[in-house]
Amino acid sequence: MEAGSGMTAGQVAPSVRLNNGVEMPQVGLGCANGLDDEGMVRLVTAAYEVGYRAFDTAPRYHNEHGLGLAVRHAGIPRAEVFVTTKVWSTDQGRDATRRAFDASLDQLGMEYVDLYLIHFPAPMLGLYVETWLTLEEFYQEGRARAIGVANFEPHHLAEVIRQGSVVPAVDQVELHPRLQQRHLREFNAGHGIRTEAWSPMAMGQTLREPAIADMAERYSATPAQIILRWHLQHGTIIIPRTRTPDRLAENLQAAHLPQLEPADMSVIDALDCDGRIGPNPDEWLDGPRGSVLKNLDQRYEKIMRGAQGDGC
Ligand SMILES: NC(=O)c1ccc[n+]([C@@H]2O[C@H](COP(=O)([O-])OP(=O)(O)OC[C@H]3O[C@@H](n4cnc5c(N)ncnc54)[C@H](OP(=O)(O)O)[C@@H]3O)[C@@H](O)[C@H]2O)c1
Repeated sequence: MEAGSGMTAGQVAPSVRLNNGVEMPQVGLGCANGLDDEGMVRLVTAAYEVGYRAFDTAPRYHNEHGLGLAVRHAGIPRAEVFVTTKVWSTDQGRDATRRAFDASLDQLGMEYVDLYLIHFPAPMLGLYVETWLTLEEFYQEGRARAIGVANFEPHHLAEVIRQGSVVPAVDQVELHPRLQQRHLREFNAGHGIRTEAWSPMAMGQTLREPAIADMAERYSATPAQIILRWHLQHGTIIIPRTRTPDRLAENLQAAHLPQLEPADMSVIDALDCDGRIGPNPDEWLDGPRGSVLKNLDQRYEKIMRGAQGDGC
């Protein structure tokens, strides 16, 4: 078995403090995994056993119910897990967002969530500020311990900060070695907003980067662990997804590996080429399920080739 992998009972991930004092695990399990209730019960139980305490879901993933069921089925005390869910773009606007939030709590079978996010700004709807003010109500009501956004660019964030009374605790964005979002990370850091990476491994594509494979060998780690370690050393919150039980521990273990040397951090930093694989937040409203995965291999090949001189 490779170093750092295996389904052993493990240490929990370190936490980071959000801008309202709430502690959030820096490594969580991404749950955009297509699993039904039974699959979620198996996966979440295994994840909890190896040390996961945070789970990222959304109505869009169709498994809030499975997540809640899994937590109860495994007898996990509610206060021991950190649950994130989100409001989808077509549910933006005060009334729809209130209905969507109630439906999420209902699906989860929980009285509160730890973090509630606006899934996309969908600026063409003109509703994200109104939606944000509605999230502030959930926060005041004590039904969301923290509130934040996903896929917000600095100009969207500036607007909610200007018109709202709560600064988002988290901005969850596409972030991996080929799309490092430096400007956004700096904006977030400057405003006390934690940056959280979705697709921290570019949906697994980054694992085939030669520079990463090389480093993995030198650190007796796996390529996934090297990438996740790089994120953690930058202070980013990560939610790697896996449906493969052995990889649960492998990914979480990244938090307990020795630090990457500064020279190796620089090698990964240098892979950045604005190589977005997901939708552009300023243009994205909706698309068929799985559309983000379309031609992913070829698109990523192009990103890697482009970074060598062809235009990323
Ligand atoms: N807010 C948003 O708009 C948004 C958008 C996308 C995703 N997300 C969230 O972010 C989470 C993570 O992003 P993601 O699911 O797109 O991508 P990801 O975590 O970057 O990559 C997941 C892929 O990597 C593979 N993988 C995981 N661990 C591995 C390992 N140790 N070795 C080899 N392969 C490994 C998985 O396959 P196996 O399952 O076979 O292991 C899967 O194919 C999602 O689950 C979701 O919670 C949010």
